[in-house]
Amino acid sequence: MNIPMVDLKAQYLDIKEELGMKIQEVLDSCHFILGPNVAALEKEVAEYTGTRHAVAVASGTDALHLALLATGIKPGDEVITTPFTFIATAEAISYIGAKPVFVDIEEKTLNMDTSMIASKITGKTKAIIPVHIFGHPANMGQVLEVANTHGLKVIEDCAQSFGAHYKFTKTGSFADAGCFSFFPSKNLGCYGDGGMVTTDSDNVAEELNSLRNHGSKVRYYHDTVGYNSRLDELQAGILRVKLKKIETYNRLRRERAMQYNESLSKMPGITVPSEMTGYFHVYHQYTIRTSKRDAIMKALSDKGIASAIYYPVPLHLQKSYKELGYGKGAFPVAERAAENVLSLPIYPELLPGDVDLICETIKACL
Ligand SMILES: Cc1ncc(COP(=O)(O)O)c(C=O)c1O
Repeated sequence: MNIPMVDLKAQYLDIKEELGMKIQEVLDSCHFILGPNVAALEKEVAEYTGTRHAVAVASGTDALHLALLATGIKPGDEVITTPFTFIATAEAISYIGAKPVFVDIEEKTLNMDTSMIASKITGKTKAIIPVHIFGHPANMGQVLEVANTHGLKVIEDCAQSFGAHYKFTKTGSFADAGCFSFFPSKNLGCYGDGGMVTTDSDNVAEELNSLRNHGSKVRYYHDTVGYNSRLDELQAGILRVKLKKIETYNRLRRERAMQYNESLSKMPGITVPSEMTGYFHVYHQYTIRTSKRDAIMKALSDKGIASAIYYPVPLHLQKSYKELGYGKGAFPVAERAAENVLSLPIYPELLPGDVDLICETIKACL
C-alpha cells in the first residue's frame, strides 16, 4: 500500500536512536521483568492520566480481565457494555464467567447510548464497561450517575483513547479502573503486546499487582490463584520513549482529522465523525459513514490507499456470542453502523498531501 492505515515504520525511524539506546540499556541491565522501567512507566502513566496508581499488564485484554477480577466481579454477574467494540471488551467479561449485556450505541459518537443503561439493569448487574470508541470519550457523567444510583462498578475500556479527555479529565481517571492497550497500532503502542490499568483505589491497585504476578504479594507466597500478566522491561522502556511524544502524536492525528473533515463534510453521501462539545477526541480511527462503502474502498485500493471496516459485525451477532440469544434487529444503531462505517488512514506521520489525495479519490468515486 502507498498509504497504509498506520505507518509504524515512519514513527520508528523518527525515534530510532533514542529507542536503540533504551533497548541497549535494558539489555545491559539484564533486568527484564518488573524492573525500573515498568515502575517508572507506571508512575508516568498515573501522572499523565491523573490517577493515583497505574499497574502494567501483558495486554489490553488482560487489563480488562484483571480489572474486572480486582473490582470483585464474579461468575454469574452481569456486566453492561456496548456491542460496537472490539471483541476483547466482551471476552474479558466472559473469562470471569460473567455475562455481557449489551446496550445500543449513539448515532453520532458510536459510543454506548448511556441513556439506555438503566433499562438493562437487573438484580445480577454488577458493572458497566463503557468503551471510548475510536478515541472519542463516552458520556462518563451519565455512566457514573447510573452506576452510583445502582451501586455498580465502572471499568473504562480506554484501549483506543490514550490522551482523550472530557473537559481536561482524562479517560482512565473517571471510574473504578481504566484499561489501556499498548498494541503496536494504538495511539501509544509498544513493539509487542502490552496494557495498563489505572485506578485511584489502593485496594484495586494492590489486587492488580498480585493478580498479574501469580497471586503473589510476597515472593513464593500465593494468596490467590493469579496469572502471569506482566509488561516486560523492553516494552516499558519503548513506551517511555513514546510517552514523551504522545501529545504531539495526538495533536497531529487531530490536525489530519480536521483536514479530512474540511473536505469530506462538503461531499453529499459522507458523514464525518462527530466531536461533541467539551470532548477531546484523539482519533485512534477516523471513521466516516457512507452507503457507498464498497465503491470507495475499491477506488482507494486501486490507488494503493488502505481503508478498513471497524467493525463489520457487532458483538451480539458474532458466532461466539450466539448463546446470548440476541437476534438481528436487537441493536439497530450498532447494526446500521456495521453496514456503513469506513475507517480511513490516520496516524501522526500521515502527510497533508496524502489526506488531499484520499479526499480527491473519494470525491471522484462519488
Ligand atoms: C476497544 C478495545 N478493547 C480492548 C482491546 C484489547 O487490547 P489488546 O489487543 O492489547 O489485548 C482493544 C485492542 O485491540 C480494543 O480496541
